[in-house]
Amino acid sequence: MQELKLSPLNVLVLHGPNLNLLGQREPGIYGSLSLAEINRQLEAEGQKLAVKVSIMQSNHEGVLVDAIHDALGKHQGILINAGAYTHTSVALRDAIAAVNLPTVEVHLSNIYKREEFRHHSYIAPIAIGQISGFGSQSYILGLQALVCFLRQSIFVSS
Ligand code: DQA
Repeated sequence: MQELKLSPLNVLVLHGPNLNLLGQREPGIYGSLSLAEINRQLEAEGQKLAVKVSIMQSNHEGVLVDAIHDALGKHQGILINAGAYTHTSVALRDAIAAVNLPTVEVHLSNIYKREEFRHHSYIAPIAIGQISGFGSQSYILGLQALVCFLRQSIFVSS
């Protein structure tokens, strides 16, 4: 029987504006974990799933757009918490659509329980799916969902 060799998956995790302040920023809404702690959890989950996780945060829309463009050829999927850009950025949505990489959108808070301006996401219609409201666990669930999707796609297409 022929052995099926799969190269390890490499996933890009993007954190948008103000998420560098997690831990001190409105802890009643976003929890008490810092971004560094969330990133450590993501890396640990990546190891369990045998996936390489590359992580970056930026407060600047154009930097996030560049990171999405750079993902082509390096990463097979994107996990993104675009923060407030979720609700405003056609540029981020267009960048994700342009590279056409499977993308999972995550939010720490349940954006549908909050102010009405947070109910609309520009990213949701072009994402595989969205996970919102589970605190830092949203990232872990999002990573699991993305990896599950990517592994299924590999088997469907091979
Ligand atoms: C957020 C929700 C957004 O509405 C907000 O602007 C954020 C964080 C979340 O993770 O809950 O910055 O994306």
